[in-house]
Amino acid sequence: MTIRLLLLIPLLLAQSRSAADLTGHWLYTFQTPDGQTREMSLWLTAKAGTFTGYMSQFGNDEPITDGQITADKISFAVVRDNFGEIRRTEYTGRLNGDTLTLYMPASNGRPGRELAMKHVSAEAPKPLPPPAPKTSLPPAGEVQSNGLAQTPPMGWNSWNKFASRVSDQLIRETADAMVRNGMKDAGYIYVNIDDTWEAGRDANGNIQTNKKFPNMKALADYVHSKGLKIGLYSSPGPKTCANFEGSFKHEEQDAKQYAAWGFDYLKYDWCSGSRVYDYHSMQAVYAKMGQALLDSGRPIVFSLCQYGVLKGPQWGVKVGGNLWRTTGDIRDTWDSMSHIGFDLQADLAPYAGPGHWNDPDMLEVGNGGMTDTEYRTHMSLWSLLAAPLLAGNDLRNVPPNISEILLNKEVIAIDQDARGKQATRTSKEGDLEVWARPLSDGGHAVGLFNRGPSTTKVTARLADMGITGKCKARDLWAHADRGEVTGTYTAEVPSHGVVLLKLK
Ligand code: GLA
Repeated sequence: MTIRLLLLIPLLLAQSRSAADLTGHWLYTFQTPDGQTREMSLWLTAKAGTFTGYMSQFGNDEPITDGQITADKISFAVVRDNFGEIRRTEYTGRLNGDTLTLYMPASNGRPGRELAMKHVSAEAPKPLPPPAPKTSLPPAGEVQSNGLAQTPPMGWNSWNKFASRVSDQLIRETADAMVRNGMKDAGYIYVNIDDTWEAGRDANGNIQTNKKFPNMKALADYVHSKGLKIGLYSSPGPKTCANFEGSFKHEEQDAKQYAAWGFDYLKYDWCSGSRVYDYHSMQAVYAKMGQALLDSGRPIVFSLCQYGVLKGPQWGVKVGGNLWRTTGDIRDTWDSMSHIGFDLQADLAPYAGPGHWNDPDMLEVGNGGMTDTEYRTHMSLWSLLAAPLLAGNDLRNVPPNISEILLNKEVIAIDQDARGKQATRTSKEGDLEVWARPLSDGGHAVGLFNRGPSTTKVTARLADMGITGKCKARDLWAHADRGEVTGTYTAEVPSHGVVLLKLK
C-alpha cells in the first residue's frame, strides 16, 4: 500500500507541473502529400488556472480567449470574423508531460481530429502586435467586359482531386489525356492549375514558381500545342488559401507575368484578403485585378472566388468577372453537392448570361464519394444552372461509367446553350424538385429530381415553365425520344436521381 502511494506521488506531481508548464510554444508539424512541411502552433502564457496567447496556422496569428486550465484539461476559444459573421470555435485539450493533445472540432464538413502537440520552448510569447490597419479602396469603377466566356467555361481544375499534388507533369499528362479520351472534343478546353504552384518573389517583385513547376512558359506552350488553354490561380491578399504567395501589391505585375507565360484563365481567391483589406473594399479589390488582366493585353478569363459573400453575384460582372463562385467549397458528398446545387442557387438566375456566369464550384464527378446516379444529378443540375463545367477528377484514367457522364453531349449542349439562361426551380414538393431553363431553339431543358430516399414519381407541369400546347420530349440520359407531351410529364425517378428532358 505505502509503496503504491509512493509511486503515485511523482505522477500527481507530474500532472500539477504540466498544467503550470503550459506556458511556452506548443508545435504540431505535418507533411502535405507532396512532401512540404506545415505547422500549427499555440503560444501560451499560463496564470493561476487561466491562460492567454494565440494560435498560429496558415500564416495567421489568432488571439485565444477564455483559456482555462483544470487539472490536466484545458479549454479555450478562438473568435473569427468569417466574412462579417462572427464565429466562435471552442477547443479542448489534455496535457500529459510535454505533450498537449488538442482536439480540433469538426468544421466545414471535415470531421474533428486530435493533434499531438509538443512543448518545444518554455519561453512566454511576446504579445501580438496590434493588427495593422486595413486598406480601404475607393469604390470600384466598372471594368470593361473582356468579351470572353460567351458560354460557361469548360475544362478541368487540379484542386478537387490533387490539391497540393499538382505539378508540371500532371498538367501535361492531363492535357494529353483530354485529347485522347474525348474531353477536348466534348468542349473541355481549359486545363487549370489551382493553388500551390507559387514560390516567393525575386528582387524585382516577380512571382516565382516552386519546384513543381520548373518552366511555366514551356508548360503553357505545351498545353496550347494540344489545342487546349491553360489557367492559373492567385489571391488578392498576401497569401493564397493554402498559404502560398498571393498578388497583394503586385496585381499589375502578376497579370503581365501570366500573360507573358501565355495563361488564358485566372481564378482569384479571396482568402487572406480579409487580413489586409477592409472587407467592404472587396469589389474594388477584384476590379483592380480585372483591370490588370484587361491591361495585360492577353484575353484572360477572370474567375472570382469569393464564395458569393457581399452579394458577389450582383457585382461580379462589373469588375470584369466571367464567373464567380456562389458558395463555399464543394465536397465529394451527396450532402455537399445537393445543398450547393439545389438550395443555394435558386435565386441566382438573374445574374447569369453570356460572358458572366454563376459558379457553384467545380465538378466532383468521378472522385468516388457519390454514386453514378448522384453524379448524373450533379452533371444535370450544373448543366441546367449554366454552370462552368470544370471536371475535378483524375482524367488520365477515367472508367467508362464516369466518361459516359462527363461526355454526354446532349447534357453538355444544355449547359452550353447559346441563350445562356440559367434554370429556375419551377416546383418543389418536399424532396421532389423540377428545374427548367429555356433554350435558344425555343425548347426547354427540364430536370425532374428526387432528393428523397426511395424511387418516386415526379411530375413536371409544363405551364410552370410557360409551355402551352403540345411538345416532344427527349430523355437526355436514356438518349431516347419519349413522344408527345401535353400538360404534364411524369417519370419514376430513383433516390437522389434525375430524369433530364429536352422539350420542344
Ligand atoms: C479555396 C477555394 C478552392 C481552392 C482552394 C485552394 O478553398 O475555394 O476552390 O482553390 O482555396 O487553396
